[in-house]
Amino acid sequence: MGVTVADVEIVILPSLDEAGETVAARIAGLVTAKPDTVLGLATGSSPLPLYRALRQRVQQGLDLGGVRGFALDEYIGLPRGDERSYAATIDREVTRPLGLDPARVHVPDGAAADLPAAAAEYEAAIRAAGGVDLQILGIGTLGHLGFNEPGSSLASRTRVKTLTEQTRQDNARFFSNVEETPAHCLTQGLGTILEARALVLFASGEAKAAAVAAAVEGGVSARYPASVLQLHPHVTLYLDEAAAGRLELAEYYRYTYAHKPAWQRDT
Ligand code: GLP
Repeated sequence: MGVTVADVEIVILPSLDEAGETVAARIAGLVTAKPDTVLGLATGSSPLPLYRALRQRVQQGLDLGGVRGFALDEYIGLPRGDERSYAATIDREVTRPLGLDPARVHVPDGAAADLPAAAAEYEAAIRAAGGVDLQILGIGTLGHLGFNEPGSSLASRTRVKTLTEQTRQDNARFFSNVEETPAHCLTQGLGTILEARALVLFASGEAKAAAVAAAVEGGVSARYPASVLQLHPHVTLYLDEAAAGRLELAEYYRYTYAHKPAWQRDT
């Protein structure tokens, strides 16, 4: 058993495929020790290499049937079952291909008549599951985590948020156009996310470079919600070269990872 890294660790790799393998191996270890491990699930392109790597392990015999999952966020305004909803996306990209039990996978209910009640129920469900063991994250162009847009309280809980124009533009590729892209969402809060026992964030491409640099090398501020990661003792950011392109201390992070002692590894 290795010594857990209590830190914000930055890992820069040529591509996120290798990161997917690394985190898939870590999840396999967690699930072997605790079959009902609680995973925090994220949509978006960034975690796809991880889901692919996990799928390969499932095909080789890894059983994720006992795993419980909580998605980060959901749009408001889409009918239940809409294929563009995050509930449908998680089902299509995670639950089915990885053989998770749909009854154990939860997504905030963006179609609820009483949204504050749905948010409170979601928080209660995470608590009742004993909290999230490993939270998977991407990062928005403006530095959001989940859908916690700039200005989000660093102590926020699951609630309704208004999406920025930038986020709607980024996500318009899943809709016919920006106007059709929902403007509101239900998202876990930054305070909720911080309670997960460990966080892994994936970011690729130049478009994320400014948000990544602000998250880990700037001050902790609601202006860049992902900067709240600096308050968590066990975070790993997996970045490709382009996403790491604006980090001042990139060489130091590379050195640190290349010289990571064998005893200092995540379990
Ligand atoms: C969406 C999701 C986030 C995700 C982000 C980045 O807005 N709500 O949870 O991290 O997009 O997406 P991508 O990984 O596709 O760049």
